[in-house]
Amino acid sequence: MPLTQLAPGEMTDDDLRDWCSVLNDMTAADMPAEPRWRTDRLRDYLEATLPEDRRYLFLDRDDDGDLVGHASLILFGGGGEQSGTGVVELSTRPSARGAGVGTRLLRAVAECAKANGCRTLSVEVIATTPAVGFYNRHGFARNVVEQRHLLRWSDIDWEKIEHAAGRLAAGYRLEYHAGGVPDRLMDSYADVKANLRSSPGNVAFVPEWRGSAYAPALRDSFQTLARRGMRSHIAVAISEPFGNVVGLTELVVSAQRPTRADQYDTVVAPQHRSYGLAMSMKARLLTELRRAEPQLVDVQTWTMETADDVRWINAELGFAHDVDWYDYGADIDRLLARLDRRR
Ligand SMILES: CC(C)(COP(=O)(O)OP(=O)(O)OC[C@H]1O[C@@H](n2cnc3c(N)ncnc32)[C@H](O)[C@@H]1OP(=O)(O)O)[C@@H](O)C(=O)NCCC(=O)NCCS
Repeated sequence: MPLTQLAPGEMTDDDLRDWCSVLNDMTAADMPAEPRWRTDRLRDYLEATLPEDRRYLFLDRDDDGDLVGHASLILFGGGGEQSGTGVVELSTRPSARGAGVGTRLLRAVAECAKANGCRTLSVEVIATTPAVGFYNRHGFARNVVEQRHLLRWSDIDWEKIEHAAGRLAAGYRLEYHAGGVPDRLMDSYADVKANLRSSPGNVAFVPEWRGSAYAPALRDSFQTLARRGMRSHIAVAISEPFGNVVGLTELVVSAQRPTRADQYDTVVAPQHRSYGLAMSMKARLLTELRRAEPQLVDVQTWTMETADDVRWINAELGFAHDVDWYDYGADIDRLLARLDRRR
């Protein structure tokens, strides 16, 4: 069967079921301890993007019609720092590996990205999986290494966490919000977010859907998460008496993998650092999650090797480093020329 490219809205229920089964076969083979995917709201997860962004999907079926591999390409619009880069996710069913399926999908993705004016491809790869060999073979360069840390719910020392959540420097208060932040906080929240991009050494690729430093785009990003079946949980530190946000920490639980929480950004405005706000916010968020998401098994987060302060806080909370994630990139023209030489 020919490889097909489609818009997420064109996926049939069978396509979605098969998509999920490839992900779960891949997880069982490469990362058996990771939670499995569910089809709950999978269509929403694939279909909803920020207003300016687009997602293309690719299905590769064998002669019997069985799905042997799939890929997703997200193209960022809006002229921001990420436009011109396409983000790829690609999986071959383990039973079909080594037969060129991955390469065929990668070519289709690269051609689609180029046709849409994209110049580079970016992909996140778990260091212990075969994907490293695959992307090396295709000439991708490793740009950034991030350390994945896991906090197992059953290992949490709740007494310590409650204590940390309650210990707050004078002149600050914490608030917890689910699903987004209220309008009164939106502007100062966006201002604090802006520090993520300007932090020295922070060269990591921060997808826009993780939140923008521009209030209207931030509202869009919370709405997009909700439309994708991803529940946001947020703790903010607020400075008295003005009531503006000076620190934030965000976490998301998705309908497709509800036992796993993803801790996204934690940031404190520079003039409010060294008061222990990050620790208090993260601890408070965990206490709120205990009530709001009782099914959780673990929380994952990523930090740069250089981010000593964040790693210290995470270690105090009980997070442990388990595996590295690589951010790989390739120039599309060079990738396509390389793929042509293989024909
Ligand atoms: C990475 C993956 C897509 C490769 O799929 P595949 O269909 O087996 O790849 P191909 O058969 O097209 O292999 C292409 C080349 O990569 C090489 N390659 C593939 N896996 C490799 C490995 N584990 N180590 C070294 N090289 C590897 C192949 O040898 C081949 O090179 P060759 O043509 O010179 O022989 C597949 O292993 C997979 O789905 N892994 C999990 C996906 C994943 O981790 N996704 C997260 C990031 S998107």
